[in-house]
Amino acid sequence: MKKLLFAAAGVLALSLPAQDAAARPTIEELQKRAVLDDYEANVLFGYNIVMDSNRYAPRYAGNALRCSSCHLDGGTRPDGFPLFVAGVYPKWRAKNGVRNSLEMRIRDCFLYSLSGVMPPEEAPEVLAVSAYISYLSYGKSIGTPPQGWGVPTLPETGADPDPARGQAVFRRACTLCHGADGAGTAVAPPLWGFQSFNAGSGMNVVPRLAGFIWANMPMGAERSLTHQEALDVAAFLHIQHRPFDPREGRLRKLAEEIYHGLSRLFGARAPAAPTGR
Ligand code: HEC
Ligand code: HEC
Repeated sequence: MKKLLFAAAGVLALSLPAQDAAARPTIEELQKRAVLDDYEANVLFGYNIVMDSNRYAPRYAGNALRCSSCHLDGGTRPDGFPLFVAGVYPKWRAKNGVRNSLEMRIRDCFLYSLSGVMPPEEAPEVLAVSAYISYLSYGKSIGTPPQGWGVPTLPETGADPDPARGQAVFRRACTLCHGADGAGTAVAPPLWGFQSFNAGSGMNVVPRLAGFIWANMPMGAERSLTHQEALDVAAFLHIQHRPFDPREGRLRKLAEEIYHGLSRLFGARAPAAPTGR
């Protein structure tokens, strides 16, 4: 009898997260409600930032992308860098060498992937995205990565990624939506150039980019490229011009060069030092 009770309690405990997830209002429901509590309003704000970063977080977004350009379907698509990841944070990251809170992690994507400005951790925009990520993570386990985390890791193909072959793949399979010059069109965002992610973005790593492309592109014909084609086209995207990695401090170097150039210029033309009167 006792055993049976325990078993019943176990079943109940197991079914609880599922019930919670079912009780979660959908985004459409939240959008229709006349009154939202503080938490719900924050979730909706976070959703709006992910779907339209330039409109809802203009002071931190820096290019033509939105979070959902890479975190597909508003962060709900498995294998498309999903955002139902609250359960794996805080998490150590090699990129900055410390354990990152979810909020710290969000800031990085503003700086590198949106090629913008790093917001403070307590910025309303960051807290809103954090609330939205927690909302997406309802019913997911805590402490272990969820199913479909990140993008698939492609198996070894035995051949190096080749940008020249990649260019052919690009022309055949990508230009229709992303444009012949990769600068984006009305239907798809830019893949390189000043309006794209910068060189420090996690997207600018060939194997990861290849995993994303293979699982999610060409949109509508996902997984139709071979692994090698995905690697090749990723290598082709990788060698294109894009905003520099802000960690390299190139803007500062440029400023210094201009400054020194100007002072040389003015130094040469400078009138003789005043002969103190
Ligand atoms: C250019 C593509 C791109 C855009 C745009 C982008 N991200 Fe990311 N994001 C990535 C990649 C790639 C990763 C995972 C790789 C890594 O760790 O660097 C990532 C990881 C994350 C993670 C951690 C996910 C995990 O699995 O641990 C969060 C949270 C996140 N991004 C939030 C955002 C938010 C919020 C925005 C918009 C403000 C945004 N990202 C915009 C590419 C992008
Ligand atoms: C049918 C249209 C379509 C085709 C074809 C297509 N894409 Fe995309 N791609 C999109 C859309 C739309 C998004 C952004 C998704 C969003 O904002 O919801 C996107 C996003 C991306 C992104 C992440 C965001 C960015 O701009 O960097 C990459 C990388 C990408 N595509 C690569 C490719 C590659 C490589 C190919 C060719 C193999 C390709 N795509 C073919 C529609 C397409």
